[in-house]
Amino acid sequence: MQFVQNQKYLLHTVFIVLFTAILPLFGQSAVPLTQGWKFHWGDSARFAQPDYNDATWDTIAVNRWWNDQGYPKKAGFAWYRIHVVIPSTLKQSAYLKDSLVFHLGKIDDFDQVYLNGHLIGENNHAVPPNAVPTDTFASRKHSLWDVPRRYALAVTDPRIHWDAENVIAIRVYNWGGPGGIYSGDLRIAMADILEYLQVTYNPGVFQKTASGWEKQVMFRNRSRKYPMQGTLRLTVQDNVAEKTLRSETHPIELAPGDVQEMQFRFRERSHSTTVRYVVQLEHSQQQFQFAEGIPYILTPPHSQALALNPPYVYGQRPGHPFIFRIPASGARPMAFSAHGLPPGISLDARNGILRGKVLQRGTYRVRVTVRNRYGSASHTYRLVIGDTLALTPPMGWNSWNVWGLAVTQDRVQAAARALVKYHLADFGWQFVNVDDGWEIPGNSTQPGRAPNGEILTNAKFPDMKALGDSIHALGLKFGIYSSPGPLTCGGYTGSYQHEDQDARTFARWGVDYLKYDLCHYRDLMKDVNDPAELIPPYARMGRALRDVSRDIVYSICEYGNGKVWEWGARVGGNLWRTTGDIWDTWERMAEIGFQQDKTAPYAGPGHWNDPDMLIIGWLGWGNNLHYTRLTPDEQYTHISLWALLSAPLLLGCDLERLDAFTLNLITNPEIIAIDQDALGYQARTVWEQDSVRAYLKKLADGNLAVGLFNLASQTRKVVFPLRVAGIQQGVEVRDVWRRQTVGRAQQEISATIPSHGVYLVKLLKARK
Ligand code: GLA
Repeated sequence: MQFVQNQKYLLHTVFIVLFTAILPLFGQSAVPLTQGWKFHWGDSARFAQPDYNDATWDTIAVNRWWNDQGYPKKAGFAWYRIHVVIPSTLKQSAYLKDSLVFHLGKIDDFDQVYLNGHLIGENNHAVPPNAVPTDTFASRKHSLWDVPRRYALAVTDPRIHWDAENVIAIRVYNWGGPGGIYSGDLRIAMADILEYLQVTYNPGVFQKTASGWEKQVMFRNRSRKYPMQGTLRLTVQDNVAEKTLRSETHPIELAPGDVQEMQFRFRERSHSTTVRYVVQLEHSQQQFQFAEGIPYILTPPHSQALALNPPYVYGQRPGHPFIFRIPASGARPMAFSAHGLPPGISLDARNGILRGKVLQRGTYRVRVTVRNRYGSASHTYRLVIGDTLALTPPMGWNSWNVWGLAVTQDRVQAAARALVKYHLADFGWQFVNVDDGWEIPGNSTQPGRAPNGEILTNAKFPDMKALGDSIHALGLKFGIYSSPGPLTCGGYTGSYQHEDQDARTFARWGVDYLKYDLCHYRDLMKDVNDPAELIPPYARMGRALRDVSRDIVYSICEYGNGKVWEWGARVGGNLWRTTGDIWDTWERMAEIGFQQDKTAPYAGPGHWNDPDMLIIGWLGWGNNLHYTRLTPDEQYTHISLWALLSAPLLLGCDLERLDAFTLNLITNPEIIAIDQDALGYQARTVWEQDSVRAYLKKLADGNLAVGLFNLASQTRKVVFPLRVAGIQQGVEVRDVWRRQTVGRAQQEISATIPSHGVYLVKLLKARK
């Protein structure tokens, strides 16, 4: 089922085990289970029995999914079997002699494990002897696709046949997409003392101090019997100079049940560094290690002085409610004044919020001045009253990447308040968008619509109109989500056959932005990639939105099917997703971000390619949040690339939990100015060497923005020839993250860029 699959892919993103590596150092101390597996598609209780004859079954590798081994796209049950002798020498050579562990690798999605015909565990939990198997293991809500399976049995457990043949049979259930046992690191070994050590280290999470960053790592001995002794080795690597800055060893000493906390301090550095932690316990055959980038803040702190920030151009339709919060940073209170405002607009002098209705079409140059106790600043904003909305890419927040279907009205409200409280609105962040999960679920006993057909909200959203009003009271904008299908991706009521009515309802609630997500409309299509089938439902909602007496920015979400960039603007779209969903890994972000060249010609004021929402800060797609798994370098790349691509910037994190690093990433006005540049040019690749790619963006003032991205897994020294950017006679170079002019470059720009990092510059052409 699509909904279930969708959930699965989203949950793929939640686990953070990728940061952890347990390195087995086994020699004679383990029985490898890496080869010799038999496989059969289908399901029967007989497959669990040791005397079942599996001779005719296929052989299968367990280091990759079954999909690329002759079982493409299989959802359902399948069995793996292996025959193996478990020698009692394992016990003799082991330090801990109590239990034997079956390490069965990662299994996508669910598993039930039999040893010699007896069920010993399912979904990473042991089951007691004589447990009776059922099918419930296959219907869990969350996929365990990324969880390494480990089943421990007491050495005295009669289900183990020492020094004789054992048959391990694994019943796997896959929801869809990739399936099977795939991580390859399968083995049988006696329990290692390291398996009793719990390390809590919150990957990527550091606390800011006056001079740098602090990190806590906590060790807990979970055993009731065994004391632990060992070391933590910590090294800090400078990723630009490529040398070790620090290396030290700390003793670990833990009585059974004990907890030991270590606190580390790292100096603030001006560039990328990585800290690596390696834990080695005495009597252990394994090591535990993890590495993380230490945050480094590039943008100098904002002074109390005033600045008027982008977007400097803003479009609205005549006669529709007008609302625009002028983004101004600096110490508050401040006082705003404006010259050249179109008739019908008034300015709230304290907050800089423009409201009203402009009847007369035209371009209005409004000179805004703002004052505080440190001084004043002025800037001209261009208000274009015409037909085009989203003259610059929409910026704001969306609930999906953080709350998923657990979104509530209170959480949205809190996000809106946070945009103002943490001064994000001062830098142009203005949309507050509710994603899926506000409607009535399709499988509820409650109808999804009132008797008159009007769409209903679920109990988590008691009053949409009030929510819209409160967002507008802050000068911000309110976004909502629906689907052209009968159901949304989350299985909630969609707009199918109610498009006009829903557009009117949204307008009444004060909606300023609609994300319209294909989802279950696919069930009604023959070919999901056929523009002839995709265009009508999107055009229909496009018309419905045009017909209401409010401006509603139209965000098309159909994952790039049927080359949406070629027709999205034609159906009224202001932005359209160009790919499937993003999640917070380098691979996914890079896969999406670095494949946008083909879409570049289609971006421009009023119509943008959307490479999906931002994945920085605390994310979760549900109630359990984790800190982004992107390293600091990868986060600089993410924001730089999205800005160069003129991508919509929608934060997808918990705004009440913004750390210093994340805040720095999203409040550099020069970065935002690149994204919000009035020309609306989408950067494209202009040069590539040694896995370093240059993206070039033309800016409205004639300057150029260039991002040099290192896609390699090592540091790269690059020399970017300026002629590629059409520069023959030298140019002033400005480091945009550091907000510093670095000097004049004649023919080239040289940079040392850490793995997955970026050097983002503006090339300032001499004024004529
Ligand atoms: C799809 C979209 C996501 C999100 C979810 C909601 O997966 O691509 O951005 O809106 O649906 O269910």
